[in-house]
Amino acid sequence: VSDPTLDRDALEDDERRVAEALDAEGYNRRSLYNFFGFKPARTELSHAPVTISGRLPADLAGVYLRNGTNPQFEPSSARWHMFDGPGMLHQIQIADGAATYSNTYVRTPRFEFERAAGRDVFMTVGELASAGKAALQKMALLERKRAAGLVPDLRLDATQTSTAVQFHHDRIFCLGEAGYPFAVNARKTNEGLVLDGTGRFETWDGALRSAFSAHPAIDPATGDFYSITVSAAAGTVDAAHVSDGKLVGARVLHRQDPKSKMAWMHECALTENYLLFPDISMRSDPGGLVGPDGSVFRFDPAYKLRWALAPRDLGSAEEVRWFETGKAGSIWHLINAWEETRADGGVQVVIYGSLFDSYPADIPIHTPAEDHAHLTKWVLDLESGKVIEAVKLLDWGYERTSFNVRYRGRPNRYAYLLDEQRQGYMGKGVLKYDLIEAGPVKYFDYGEFFGGEALFVPRTGAVEEDDGYLLDLLMTDSKAELVVIDARAMKEVARLRLPQPVPFGVHACWLDEDMLAALADTPA
Ligand SMILES: [Fe+2]
Repeated sequence: VSDPTLDRDALEDDERRVAEALDAEGYNRRSLYNFFGFKPARTELSHAPVTISGRLPADLAGVYLRNGTNPQFEPSSARWHMFDGPGMLHQIQIADGAATYSNTYVRTPRFEFERAAGRDVFMTVGELASAGKAALQKMALLERKRAAGLVPDLRLDATQTSTAVQFHHDRIFCLGEAGYPFAVNARKTNEGLVLDGTGRFETWDGALRSAFSAHPAIDPATGDFYSITVSAAAGTVDAAHVSDGKLVGARVLHRQDPKSKMAWMHECALTENYLLFPDISMRSDPGGLVGPDGSVFRFDPAYKLRWALAPRDLGSAEEVRWFETGKAGSIWHLINAWEETRADGGVQVVIYGSLFDSYPADIPIHTPAEDHAHLTKWVLDLESGKVIEAVKLLDWGYERTSFNVRYRGRPNRYAYLLDEQRQGYMGKGVLKYDLIEAGPVKYFDYGEFFGGEALFVPRTGAVEEDDGYLLDLLMTDSKAELVVIDARAMKEVARLRLPQPVPFGVHACWLDEDMLAALADTPA
């Protein structure tokens, strides 16, 4: 539907003015993201052979699937940030001692629209975090184009779901946190799993009204998804509970002060009876775009980090309880949380996560300009409503933590922490850490490689918590390899050399043979 009164010349003038103000090419050239590891993959491969070195364990059979951004256009007409660009799934299938590699764009409506337009069209995080008034001009222009029917009115379906990927109820979901989850079509062929990146947004028959987390807390006993997200527009903190392929609960957990909204809520935690989320010192304020940082994001040292505790039953009217830490801080990732009964009979909740004492307004994540995060333990006393312990456990910077998620919500011993301090870009090694003894166990050095996250995959039939493998997709400037580390000994057992370089990325999931067998087959 095109507006006949639309002045196309004026619109083109505006386009030019916005492009000049954004100076995407100059900005991207100077950006810390102009670094080899962020160069997108240009070829989509299907079951290309992978070279294996070392001894691939006989009991490691399944699919490693990693999501990550992969900008379509060079040069881009948008200011670029690691969170921008459509998602790309990198799939390494391991069966019978052999492996193949496939990759595909995640074909969301935004991807398809920009693909057809031949350029980046919508706002990027890079612009919201750095472009100041130019970002406001681009927003106003986009609004006019929307009103004129020149660009689609995408809201919670504007997300590129490029952050993470998870299996739930026989389907694979690509996840971001700015919109709905995207269920990708899957086909099972003689070659194995085929994903072409097509799919659809899932709202569970319209029941999901909020964005969905990139890190839904998955109950290991039931496979249920628990999502907590912040809505940038409404300023609400929304929870959703998905069970057995249905949305069975949703609740607005918190209405934020419009003048000080949380910038993001990237990961929540689940315990036996509660959902937990951090209210961080990283705030969002559109007025910030006219301020000195030119960013909607701002670390507010006066806004102290606090924890919110809500009942897991989202139908409950029980109020959210707040636990003040008295200290400013920002958080991306949590490890685990659980409830404990002390010797004095008191009940407490223990939380482990990586805490940033400060964070730059331009969100330079995974670059040397980012602050370092420190492994921290918090203990919340449920009776007094107080944070009774907040301890920094390591002085060195570690983030993108993982653990054996079969222990989610109950006490676990080991965490695997990515070393983000040594080089600044991504991770240069992984530390196995003992949460019970509060001490490092063993460090595995990535050498010349950069890693994203050491995903823990339990060994078939494992009884011990650390009986399994750590899988991380490692990169140098010319090669990509999936490393397989024995998580008990922290020793490499195999390496799988991929047929092409892969850009830096973080979150992955493992589809074991049972999940692959259960995967719903959606013919293209
Ligand atoms: Fe994440």
